[in-house]
Amino acid sequence: MLDTSNQPTLPPEIARRRTFAIISHPDAGKTTLTEKFLLYGGAIQMAGQVRAKGEARRTRSDFMQMEKDRGISVSASAMSFDYGNFRFNLVDTPGHSDFSEDTYRTLTAVDAAVMVIDGAKGVESQTQKLFEVCRLRDLPILTFCNKMDRESRDTFEIIDEIQEMLAIDVTPAAWPIGVGRDFIGCYDMLRDRLELMDRADRNKVAESIEINGLGDPKLAEHVPEHLLDKLLEEVEMARELLPALDPQAVLEGHMTPIWFGSAINSFGVKELMEGIGAYGPQPQVQSAEPRQISPDEKKVAGFVFKVQANMDPKHRDRVAFVRMASGHFKRGMKLTHVRSKKPMAISNPVLFLASDRELAEEAWAGDIIGIPNHGQLRIGDTLTEGEAIRVTGIPSFAPELLQGVRAGDPMKAKHLEKALMQFAEEGAAKVFKPSIGSGFIVGVVGALQFEVLASRIEMEYGLPVRFEASQFTSARWVSGDKAEVEKFVNANKQHIAHDHDGDIVYLTRLQWDIDRVVRDYPALNLTATKEMM
Ligand code: G4P
Repeated sequence: MLDTSNQPTLPPEIARRRTFAIISHPDAGKTTLTEKFLLYGGAIQMAGQVRAKGEARRTRSDFMQMEKDRGISVSASAMSFDYGNFRFNLVDTPGHSDFSEDTYRTLTAVDAAVMVIDGAKGVESQTQKLFEVCRLRDLPILTFCNKMDRESRDTFEIIDEIQEMLAIDVTPAAWPIGVGRDFIGCYDMLRDRLELMDRADRNKVAESIEINGLGDPKLAEHVPEHLLDKLLEEVEMARELLPALDPQAVLEGHMTPIWFGSAINSFGVKELMEGIGAYGPQPQVQSAEPRQISPDEKKVAGFVFKVQANMDPKHRDRVAFVRMASGHFKRGMKLTHVRSKKPMAISNPVLFLASDRELAEEAWAGDIIGIPNHGQLRIGDTLTEGEAIRVTGIPSFAPELLQGVRAGDPMKAKHLEKALMQFAEEGAAKVFKPSIGSGFIVGVVGALQFEVLASRIEMEYGLPVRFEASQFTSARWVSGDKAEVEKFVNANKQHIAHDHDGDIVYLTRLQWDIDRVVRDYPALNLTATKEMM
């Protein structure tokens, strides 16, 4: 458990940062919401310049362009944008539906998560799994109930479902008015305002109408009679039955405020962003050894939570995504790569601003920068201004599924090896080279990872591959007394492989085998995961 009782007072540049990820079930609207975030991020900067009609049109066309470029947002792993006084850093969780290690690690780099649910479907399986991961870290969660422009469930029912399935208190930040075709907007429960949706214009920011409480006659001017009674009744009931917003409980991950909206209609997004600003956490203390890192420390520290290779297949580049844990980083700084104890000049770090990739001239605690490199930076690595601190808590997973892999063209075995090593270093799979025979064995956590790998190897290396059943089902890393390890390896050659770091792995299909090794070789350590360092 982190000691957060003494949250430092942060310098304003750090205090205004909000670093978060979106968790959701496929199809709930994560991509659409991300686009709208980026749009508001960009649009707001422009609206700040001139509010003339022509300018508004330009904002609009930029919006359209971004809609057209749909897809950019999913290929960038981290995006930064400003809204109001806040700098938001949105870290993308993988777009495909598999539940991968990548997702877990991404969640170690954020301070909060936005949970998007579909108003008709409620809490779905993937949401639940991801929520559990957030819970392990007590991450604050803000909820967005999307697709309110479609037939959706009763509001109380949705809230009950979240409370029950996820065991978290839910407080309505907004209350939807009408459902499906009748949905006209929300009553802002926190600020007593009406937010009305413009169905005619999907990209238009909702109209806000100040209301002086539920008794204000202005309500009736904007809400049709058949919806008004229901609204009054429901809001009253909600205030009576549901817990009121408790910012501390939100920060501790015990309560989630929920907003209702329609991402595709740009509705509710602004309120959600304001909510993340107001109730979301500032950059948090980072757990590390031998001491934790506080964001207000003057010296810079950061850690790699993701490595992505071949972002641009033409350049074969590799980018390490670094979450800044403390200090004020400036481009060109020399940082110590703690694992190798070597200095690294960070001369061309990148920042992903909306749809552009730009040089990062500076970064503060909470920010995510990309550092192009040739493989020195690995997941779990820490960079500091010299101190030997190592960030902890980045999980490594025991591969649960093993398959053999072969190149469609046997002459291309060397290429396959290169591709596999690349993915192993990225953390996308575990790759084992058996000490007897040819070929490789790939270990993953979710079955879909095989498909993703196969398509990436084909796309990025032009190499069709075949995954096939392996005779092994479990992998254990072997360490311990050198002589004992050697004796063990010699006696079990047909079960021994090496991973991409050259470390020894024992492959088997029987738990019984593992138990036997533990019994017969008491001086050996067999572990299902390898610490990422
Ligand atoms: P995901 O990243 O969570 O998988 O979801 P995504 O944003 O891609 O949205 C999934 C589908 O839901 C898309 O439709 C999208 O347009 C739609 N959608 C998103 N937000 C809303 C909303 O507020 N209301 C309604 N009615 N639909 C919404 P699609 O047909 O799968 O794709 P597309 O052809 O629209 O791109």
